[in-house]
Amino acid sequence: MSLPFPILSAEEAAELVQDGQTIGFSGFTPAGAAKAVPAALALKARREHAAGRAFKVGVLTGASTGKSLDGALAAAEAISFRMPYQSDSTLRKQINEGKVRFVDMHLSLVPQNVRYGFMGPIHWAIVEACDITAGGGVVLTSSVGASNTYLRLADRIIIELNARHPSSLLGLHDLFEPQDPPARQEIPIYAASDRVGSPICVIDPKKIAGIVMTDLADETGGFDEATEVTGRIGQHVADFLAAEMRAGRIPPGFLPLQSGVGNIANAVLGALGQSRDIPAFEMYTEVLQDSVVPLLENGRCTFASTCALTLSQESMKRVTENIDYFKRRVVLRPQEISNHPEIVRRLGIVSMNTAIEVDLGGNVNSTHLMGKTMMNGIGGSGDFTRNAYLSIFSCPSTAKEGKISAIVPLAAHMDHSEHSVQVIVTEHGVADLRGKDPRERARIIIEKCADPEYRDMLRDYLKLSLTGHEPLSLSLGLAMHRAYLRHGDMRNIQWEEYR
Ligand code: COA
Repeated sequence: MSLPFPILSAEEAAELVQDGQTIGFSGFTPAGAAKAVPAALALKARREHAAGRAFKVGVLTGASTGKSLDGALAAAEAISFRMPYQSDSTLRKQINEGKVRFVDMHLSLVPQNVRYGFMGPIHWAIVEACDITAGGGVVLTSSVGASNTYLRLADRIIIELNARHPSSLLGLHDLFEPQDPPARQEIPIYAASDRVGSPICVIDPKKIAGIVMTDLADETGGFDEATEVTGRIGQHVADFLAAEMRAGRIPPGFLPLQSGVGNIANAVLGALGQSRDIPAFEMYTEVLQDSVVPLLENGRCTFASTCALTLSQESMKRVTENIDYFKRRVVLRPQEISNHPEIVRRLGIVSMNTAIEVDLGGNVNSTHLMGKTMMNGIGGSGDFTRNAYLSIFSCPSTAKEGKISAIVPLAAHMDHSEHSVQVIVTEHGVADLRGKDPRERARIIIEKCADPEYRDMLRDYLKLSLTGHEPLSLSLGLAMHRAYLRHGDMRNIQWEEYR
């Protein structure tokens, strides 16, 4: 292939980036993330630091990335600012120590916040592609994320041309960027399978500083095997949705599903796929995890609109080896579109996300352990939950071998309020909060979802707090968290101790 752009080594590309600059990288959970240049940037940072010079960059992505991007840059202490989502343990530690400024943001808002200038200038877009034309037509790889926006807005561009992804991915993507207000119009997607944009990202070729040739697999982690707990959660969700259909509250043709990230979400989808009571379904979601690949193959999932193929190498191989089949059944969209409130509301999406903890009012914490320690970020859970036809949160009823209850009097951090959360599911059952007042909600969450070992305790809390519209005790609301921090266990709390 002969291209009119300089071919650079990753090290040469990294030399172009200067201390203090902001980079928009490709990558979404961590599919399609740039890998070679960030790893080289991390080495450059180490060299600069060893020579006594400052070197840190602002890192914007679609969502989380892999070890070569967040992992390597964090280990080299080369990140000054990070948004909008991450899941790397080193970076998480630096964020929680206050060493990296992290802005946790609804993923659908990232591209427009960048366009509006809220995040300052984007000096570089460093984006993985599987093909590029001399005129600046870029075929992205296993995710879109915010790459289309970063490519358009960045001052200069470096493309990682990754031979691991075949150029036959052309046709998988549908790139559409809305106009900004006051010129914004509707996004003309009326079904999960509608295509409204371009399969390639067309960029100004003059902005391309160079191409870096790579051959690197996505750094996606595998999934844990479904456990008894995740299996029961999945079964409860499947039974609940089947009952909703029988009751006529979900149309007989079913509704598109959104499913969140992580092991529980993967297990829930697996259970839905196997349920005989759930008809074949479509997905309108932001990540496609391993469990959906066999469902697309066997027709249980008839179409999937997503922002990323967050697949193990084995599943990704199955997709690329049969790419024509999957191109008819999968579309990859920018996160601004895969998560757009307008489309989520219009299509009537059933959202299924994972909670860290749920309180007795039905408020959900998805992000902060004990209210303070950032886990990953809100991701797209808020984009979907707030606008869903039906919003479901699931989680195991306890964490850390039962020492932590996921059902607490008051969430120590709130991402999704009682006004948006409709259904809570744990391995013990389903709390359907629709049409329930705060007292009813508290009772049903305790009786259906709390671990039996915690139920009496929570019932006692309810008795102590049963005044006003919300059963809330300001002094005891966070007592279970305080008990955990004090004794390493939430069980056997003496409420009097915390009055
Ligand atoms: N208090 C303290 N720790 C808790 C906890 C609680 N109430 N609940 C869970 N944890 C810990 C677990 O013990 C586990 O810790 P470990 O890694 O040390 O074992 C960790 O949190 C993750 O829990 P796990 O049960 O494995 O959950 P998961 O892999 O399904 O992820 C979220 C759960 C909430 C972290 C994840 O779904 C997330 O980041 N969500 C926000 C983004 C999102 O929802 N995006 C959706 C749109 S795609």
